[in-house]
Amino acid sequence: MTRLFHISDVHFGLEDTAALAWVADCVARERPDAVAITGDLTMRARHREFAAAAAWIRALDVPVTVEVGNHDLPYFNLAERFLDPYRRFRALQAAVGHGANLPGLALIPLKTTARAQTRLNWSKGRVGERSLAACLAAIDALPPGTRALVACHHPLVETGTHGKALTRGGSRALAALAGRRVLAVLSGHVHDAFDLVHETEQGPVRMIGAGTLSQRLRATPAGFNELTFADGALTVRLRSRASTCTG
Ligand SMILES: [Fe+2]
Ligand SMILES: [Fe+2]
Repeated sequence: MTRLFHISDVHFGLEDTAALAWVADCVARERPDAVAITGDLTMRARHREFAAAAAWIRALDVPVTVEVGNHDLPYFNLAERFLDPYRRFRALQAAVGHGANLPGLALIPLKTTARAQTRLNWSKGRVGERSLAACLAAIDALPPGTRALVACHHPLVETGTHGKALTRGGSRALAALAGRRVLAVLSGHVHDAFDLVHETEQGPVRMIGAGTLSQRLRATPAGFNELTFADGALTVRLRSRASTCTG
């Protein structure tokens, strides 16, 4: 059995410190095999926000994967945003040791952010050709029998939450992932949790969203998802701030 904690949208700079202390306590007591973080680690991609994120993640002392969210690209420094938008995020990845070695399961990243878009709202999702190709190639390179959990920031299609992702290229990407029979697509961004099956032209695909651990609440309290993979089946349990740790 493999157990993951899927967390998202911590937004250091506007984090919920009580919720973070609760999650860190749950990790310490329950020792999941890995923690998967699906983006928006910071509020405005400030250096001090990334430093706080790195310190909190490192203190968890379990394998961690981190994806980039739209809030993690430079917001004030436009020159850096255009020339090297992922520099600060890469430094965070290097600091926390991106990666988790799980039996029979692989977390595969899919980038859904963009330094700029041909629409006014650059916070929405976008799956570019190269990002999708890299994700599919990583899935195709997995050893036989290993299941893929794709990790991205924006839901690839709308899932009925208050917040919208409006991901360009998302439907096409989701169909391609359905065709690869991925175990699920993990995401964040909308700050509310969900677990549903979406039908695509290439078959069904499961979409799992984690809520937020920030003060930017939408419809639901702060929380995260506990994912359990056993005998080929994935189970999701929503852990909200009101619940207690076990183990
Ligand atoms: Fe967010
Ligand atoms: Fe976001």
